Amino acid sequence: MTNKYIYFVANWKMFGNLRTLNSLNKVISFVKKNKQRKFRLIYCPPATLIDPLKDKVKSTSIQIGAQNCHESENYGANTGQINSSMLKSVGAKYVILGHSENRQLGENDITINKKIRSSIKSGLNIIFCIGESLSQKRKKMTKKVLSRQIISGLKKIRNKDKLIIAYEPVWAIGSGLIPKEIEILEIVKFIKNKVKGAKVLYGGSVNTKNINVLKKINNVDGFLIGGASQNSNNFIDIIKKTFN
Ligand code: 13P
Repeated sequence: MTNKYIYFVANWKMFGNLRTLNSLNKVISFVKKNKQRKFRLIYCPPATLIDPLKDKVKSTSIQIGAQNCHESENYGANTGQINSSMLKSVGAKYVILGHSENRQLGENDITINKKIRSSIKSGLNIIFCIGESLSQKRKKMTKKVLSRQIISGLKKIRNKDKLIIAYEPVWAIGSGLIPKEIEILEIVKFIKNKVKGAKVLYGGSVNTKNINVLKKINNVDGFLIGGASQNSNNFIDIIKKTFN
């Protein structure tokens, strides 16, 4: 895994306030000391922290992403919503879209496709999440589900340069469970065959222990990390172990 740039994307979900940002001092000094390492670090905090985090990491290679956006890049009467151009204007370079936690709240392939298209128009890079549920896995429907999510989510998108795909099995998120290495290898290969040239991350219960196994899966381009990214020591440990 060490010959290419490895992505470490921290998805903080609904976590963090201004004080929490102090815990990133360790990560910032780690990044500064390890400039020769081939990794890209992207923090996706809640929207409330994008702007202060941008200031905090401005002298580093750390980039910032958002966790979701509205499907239209224009302003509108959408109380509580934020669109891709607004995220871009405060410093986001990436946006996570299609996360299963939002799919479970009713987001569907059509809305996700609109969000991806509007985010590309706004100049954001996309971290597009796909993954099967446990019952779909048991019914051996994983590839069928991923195919549908990819085909619908990426409809009418010709330029895939700004796209990173995150394979996050729904049953692996927050559960402490991960697929077998061979399963991840096969699914990542399957995704890369469907979306030529795309980088593919693995996400779902990545932690300081299982990273020793996950880092050996050589077609994976990095990791989308939830819980373990909220603790800077754990996050740094995951990065260090990936390169050891
Ligand atoms: P956990 O790492 O907490 O399982 O979350 C994964 C995830 O949903 C990242 O987007």
